[in-house]
Amino acid sequence: MSENTRKIIIAGNWKMHKTRHKARELAEAIVAAVKHHQDLPEIVLCPPFTALLDVVQAVQQSPIKVGAQNMEHRTSGAFTGEISPTMLTDLGVGYVIIGHSERRQFFAETNASVNLKLKAALEHNLTPIVCVGESLDEREANLTDSVVSRQVAAALTDIPQTESLKLVIAYEPIWAIGTGKHCPSQEANRVAQLIRRTVSELYRNDPASGNSDKVQAGDSISVLYGGSVKPSTIDELMDQPDVDGALVGGASLQAEEFVPLIESSQKRIKQQLSRV
Ligand code: 13P
Repeated sequence: MSENTRKIIIAGNWKMHKTRHKARELAEAIVAAVKHHQDLPEIVLCPPFTALLDVVQAVQQSPIKVGAQNMEHRTSGAFTGEISPTMLTDLGVGYVIIGHSERRQFFAETNASVNLKLKAALEHNLTPIVCVGESLDEREANLTDSVVSRQVAAALTDIPQTESLKLVIAYEPIWAIGTGKHCPSQEANRVAQLIRRTVSELYRNDPASGNSDKVQAGDSISVLYGGSVKPSTIDELMDQPDVDGALVGGASLQAEEFVPLIESSQKRIKQQLSRV
């Protein structure tokens, strides 16, 4: 897979918003808005656990996919309050966000727990969207590249290359999340390139990598950007060759804001198709 064939993804992370009724309404509005569109990106809606089934049902007759915002890595057992991978697949969920910075910050998730969850997601055929990104302090101390590459390497520990190709990585600089602070698109692209290089480097000596003429592992995965993505910033973002879409918080909570993000990504898909 290369730039021309990587999946373009627009994912909405609804965080702790929307009751079941409101979630269904939003999902139905998005389904209706994209119904007659062609060349759609992969659209992934990630409501809270309580609304997953409602959203799965609302998108059933459409190509839209549903993701969870987190999960426990174990399949079952005495883990009060947790939701397992099999519980998600049982609902018809296809994606799961792993290691969002809010989970790392408020719920003590670590690179090690991200790795366990990533392995569990792959094992259960859930497509993981693994989040990485630096804090403002880390950026100001020039640590962006080392923090991001360490998070990527830790997430992928002991994951075979063939499995790694199934994952999606979202670069979400913490300082740009929910702040309205814009990460310049060229900078998002630069970090997306760094993520690809890091993944390729991890599998450099893997027999499955083949020789250096072949496409590298890092070129095959979809890399998204997240952090204050809005209809006013998406066009520039989608012009960046190493950014394959967006993981959207605030602007995913209303169809009027989310649908234009989908429409912007369609231009990129049309370009891809014209090059194939
Ligand atoms: P905002 O789009 O609200 O900045 O949130 C981004 C995010 O955290 C998506 O996971």
